[in-house]
Amino acid sequence: MATNVNAAALDESPVPEPAQKQHKQTVDPYNVSGEVGEDGVVKAIDYNKLVDEFGTKKIDDALLARFERVTGKRPHHFLRRGIVFSHRDFEFILDRYERGEPFFLYTGRGPSSDSVHVGHTIPFEFTKWLQDTFDVPLIIMLTDDEKYLFSEKRTIEEVQGYCSSNAKDIIAIGFDPAKTFIFSDFDYVGGAFYRNIVRLSKHITLNQARAIFGFNESSNIGRIHFGSIQGATSWASSFPHIFGEDETKTVGIPALIPCAIDQDPYFRMTRDVSARLKYQGKPYAKPSLIHALFLPALQGPGTKMSASIDESAIFMKDTPNQIKNKINKYAFSGGKVSVEEHRELGGDTSVDVSFQYLRFFLDDDDELEKIRVSYEKGELLTGELKAICIKELQKYVAGFQERRAKVDDAAVAVFMERRPLKWGGNPRAPIV
Ligand code: TYM
Ligand code: TRP
Repeated sequence: MATNVNAAALDESPVPEPAQKQHKQTVDPYNVSGEVGEDGVVKAIDYNKLVDEFGTKKIDDALLARFERVTGKRPHHFLRRGIVFSHRDFEFILDRYERGEPFFLYTGRGPSSDSVHVGHTIPFEFTKWLQDTFDVPLIIMLTDDEKYLFSEKRTIEEVQGYCSSNAKDIIAIGFDPAKTFIFSDFDYVGGAFYRNIVRLSKHITLNQARAIFGFNESSNIGRIHFGSIQGATSWASSFPHIFGEDETKTVGIPALIPCAIDQDPYFRMTRDVSARLKYQGKPYAKPSLIHALFLPALQGPGTKMSASIDESAIFMKDTPNQIKNKINKYAFSGGKVSVEEHRELGGDTSVDVSFQYLRFFLDDDDELEKIRVSYEKGELLTGELKAICIKELQKYVAGFQERRAKVDDAAVAVFMERRPLKWGGNPRAPIV
């Protein structure tokens, strides 16, 4: 009896540090909120401050020029517009690419609902572009265990169900099956991967986990341990079917991880541990990272679009009408309260959610610039700006839905099968 009571109590343990009680900006894998001012209003997320606090580097023009030189490709509009804005050791990956040395791409998704939202597609779209550019293997992790451990309500059956629908959403982005391995933690943990998970967990103390993630005495121990699972996926030796069994060779192959910046704490921790580990005298490669901004919630730039808050998000399964209604009803406006005032003073594009969405989804630079100037001058009204945003999002989501309709269970099985991958990039032939 007593055991049952304790188990129930543990299940109720709150996520660390509820965001609404905080006044400082919070960005970690579980909370994203801008600073709350004295007036109670949440400010836009200050990304420059994050770069300073996390100790990452901003992506500058020199790095973009080098990228273009090395790959022969014009930087993606996410790079040109500062949407993918920060990195850790990205130069190091460019060095390896130049020298023809191996590396791989790694990203992931926590299956918390049955459809991804337009925000999630940002790192995935960018990852696809990187896969096309570098022609290297890609590993996509589905953290069903995380989404079970970090929720009071979800059951294991539920998150496993979301895995298959989320895998279909991810496949619909357009990844190449010959070069992409998707796995779920519940299915894949074991063998070489589990050995790496345990190696990583042995080097993280409770104090470090608390400092990095903000856990407290009531946090269940599954949550405290979870970082080792997300972290150990950064190591090529966790995937012998792709990189080979010989750990003295695989231990030095680094990952490049595209993600939004909320995921950085996991990898800061992994990089610290990598720097301290050796396998038979060979040093572990530290993962490199490339970080995206958040697509803001419909309610404003103070927080990210989130799958667990329905009104904050536009889901990739939404109908054209739902998209229209959500933008019209919820999208925070940087316009003025009356048409007269708006015509006189103009709108604020830096907080206007419809304009911010266009920065992500409208790839024509000239058209975007025209819209910005016209809105800031007060020529374009909020309703008109919303109409442009609705049209672009409907187009983006419809294109996705067309591809998604063609992804069946058989395709999911192909991507999720443990098998060698084939790629032509670095090195020119598979390592195995
Ligand atoms: P998850 O499912 O919360 O998010 C998946 C990816 O989408 C990013 N993201 C966003 N990007 C832009 N705008 C938003 N509003 C937005 N919301 C989420 C996330 O940063 C992430 O890149 N624990 C992870 C799963 C994971 C992972 C990884 C992610 C495992 N390994 C490696 C990135 C890299 C999670 O729950 O992600
Ligand atoms: N904020 C609006 C704008 O920037 C001005 C406005 C207020 C408005 N009510 C409206 C515009 C009704 C169109 C319809 O355009």
